[in-house]
Amino acid sequence: MKKLYLLGLATALACSPALAADQATAGSSKDAFITDLLGRMTLDEKIGQLRLISIGPEMTHEQIAKEIAAGHIGGTFNSVTRPENRPMQDAAMNSRLKIPMFFAYDVIHGHRTIFPIGLGLASSWDMDAIGLSARTAAREAAADSLDMTFGPMVDISRDPRWGRSSEGFGEDTYLVSRIAKVMVQGYQGKDVSAPDSIMAAVKHFALYGGVEGGRDYNTVDMSPNRMYQDYLPPYRAALDAGAGGVMVALNSINGVPATSNTWLMQDLLRRDWGFKGLTVSDHGAILELVKHGVARDGREAAKLAIHAGIDLSMNDMVYGAELPGLVKSGEVPEAEIDNAVREVLSAKYDMGLFADPYRRLGKAAEDPADTNAESRLHREESRSVARRSMVLLKNAGNTLPLKKAGTIAVIGPLADAPIDMMGSWSAAGQPTQSVTLLRGIREAVGNQAQVVYAKGANVTNDRNSVAFLNRIIFDRTEVEIDPRPAQEMIDEALKAAANADVIVAAVGESRGMSHESASRTTLEIPPPQRALLTALRATGKPLVLVLMNGRPLSLVRENEEADAMLETWFSGTEGGHAIADLLFGDYNPSGKLPVTFPRSVGQVPMYYSHLTIGRPFTPGKAGNYTSQYFDEDTSPLFPFGYGLSYTTFDVSDVRLSADRIKRGDTLKASVTVRNSGKRDGETVVQLYLHDVTASMARPIKELKNFQKVFLKAGERKEVTFTLSEDDLKFYNIKLEYAAEPGDFDVQIGLDSQDVKQARFELL
Ligand code: BGC
Repeated sequence: MKKLYLLGLATALACSPALAADQATAGSSKDAFITDLLGRMTLDEKIGQLRLISIGPEMTHEQIAKEIAAGHIGGTFNSVTRPENRPMQDAAMNSRLKIPMFFAYDVIHGHRTIFPIGLGLASSWDMDAIGLSARTAAREAAADSLDMTFGPMVDISRDPRWGRSSEGFGEDTYLVSRIAKVMVQGYQGKDVSAPDSIMAAVKHFALYGGVEGGRDYNTVDMSPNRMYQDYLPPYRAALDAGAGGVMVALNSINGVPATSNTWLMQDLLRRDWGFKGLTVSDHGAILELVKHGVARDGREAAKLAIHAGIDLSMNDMVYGAELPGLVKSGEVPEAEIDNAVREVLSAKYDMGLFADPYRRLGKAAEDPADTNAESRLHREESRSVARRSMVLLKNAGNTLPLKKAGTIAVIGPLADAPIDMMGSWSAAGQPTQSVTLLRGIREAVGNQAQVVYAKGANVTNDRNSVAFLNRIIFDRTEVEIDPRPAQEMIDEALKAAANADVIVAAVGESRGMSHESASRTTLEIPPPQRALLTALRATGKPLVLVLMNGRPLSLVRENEEADAMLETWFSGTEGGHAIADLLFGDYNPSGKLPVTFPRSVGQVPMYYSHLTIGRPFTPGKAGNYTSQYFDEDTSPLFPFGYGLSYTTFDVSDVRLSADRIKRGDTLKASVTVRNSGKRDGETVVQLYLHDVTASMARPIKELKNFQKVFLKAGERKEVTFTLSEDDLKFYNIKLEYAAEPGDFDVQIGLDSQDVKQARFELL
């Protein structure tokens, strides 16, 4: 214990602000520390460090403690309280070398206080708000003794059939990369070893969002150009921001599973990107190499994974069992094990655990009496971020904002659904603490208006879907199905609506529908809810849809039936309050879509930045041999970047500081934005670029920058962007990243379609 203490002190000094400037000293003392420790470890102890164990029914707590004390486990995940984790750290302190454990969890959009899902956070286009969500989550997670999160999830997704679209930040490389950075900074804080910071392990490396057909875990086949240009940059952005870890994807890439992919893990990640941190397999992924058909058995799977560079085996089934034999037979050089162990120890060092293994566990006497206590939540933060995450899709005749007067009928299966409010990765969030829409509306109006409620429909009546949804998340009943006939429920809703001045209908998906392994073949709101909406429309009363869903939905019919539509995603613990803030105009909607909303699933994949083609569709010339679907409008229903406000904005023509630039020059592009309406409000001014002629087909436009601006009613503001040669670069056919001379169109506007354009030339 004494030795550990002294080493810990040396570590603490090396990390202290006074010495922080001297990176070399800190680095070398860390290296020396780890080299010394490694030199004292047996092979079994080394392999033990590579095992990450899920706390669950597979192993009892007593067994786990025994294994830890024997030096056979490096870290655990899925246990989220200090009293649960402390005995495990105590067991580690009783092991021969006293190497501390670390505790990890999927802190994806909040920990105890739940924030909007990834797509919601991204809809804010507000880096401060997104950063605040991560920082708050880190504080709460660290206070619960967690050291690491498996996040942020930055998989680009252009296929809304994929249920994990909900977790990520949308379709756009630039926006997702910006968010990756602030998420990592939020989790890790200024210093990842701080007691209120947790280490970020960015996932899922790589290209998981490209699964064929949007079917989870499916194969990914992608050209190198698309990878480098569109799908890889967000992971890189997270690493550049200092993420300490990388979680490796479950999918294969052009036939080679990520988990055994030496190109991905060695050539790209370690060699080209210079990543020095920790890699962790996804849950059970190493053994899955057998199912992928690249390993004969667990033994070969372990060999492939360690050889590719997987340090930690998540929910380990094969490292512990197979690596000792593989090393003894000489099939795996001990140096490969040492490399992996070095990275695990190094991450523990960076998390401050050698300096103080109880850094985030604290003292038992100070454990919260009630881990779920209200006082431990950050409701204000959650509400303020949630307000920013919602997108006003339609507002005919200024139906919104509503008056706090008269009678409001709140209808729909998601109107009073506390579990669904929290979204798919709700970490340690408690449904009993989440504010539903019904409660939010009731509290907003107080006694100024009457609120009536009816469920009106089940989320779905499809038995297979219900069985699936009630199995998907911890085998828990998520979706309560009302056994009454659909018509009886609709009639009840119509009765409730009969005396109402306005109907607010909460419809969409239950949270399990947009979740891991929850892929869909349709993007429509399920039939019983659609039938309910049609019946509500027939009342002739103003109909406001509050949409809750974790993927872009196809909303053609709803867009015709509803007077107003507000996309709220799954908005978290304070969702109901935040939605009410928007419905009643206490907050003016400012969110913008981070994904394209197609009209139908048949248009998928549909994303705004597609490459130029030889026969583009020209609206109005439908009969021509051009790229289109003849049975559906070729445009999306709502484009990327779209979102309305209770006020209106207009944007002037684009002014450029030059119409020709040389390499190394910068160019300023400006517009004047005016709030032309009667309310104060915020909007997102977006800048897109199009490389007109290049050595390869280039995207019709690509987001390169944006600014969120607040304008008082009637106010004007000049918004200026600076473009540099870097903004013009792309990966050419040889995968060189370079700008090519020629014309570029600069487009600035309030969504990806509604833009003003000017041209300049790179000489
Ligand atoms: C998911 C990961 C997650 C892990 C641990 C896996 O099934 O793919 O995203 O981090 O489980 O919960």
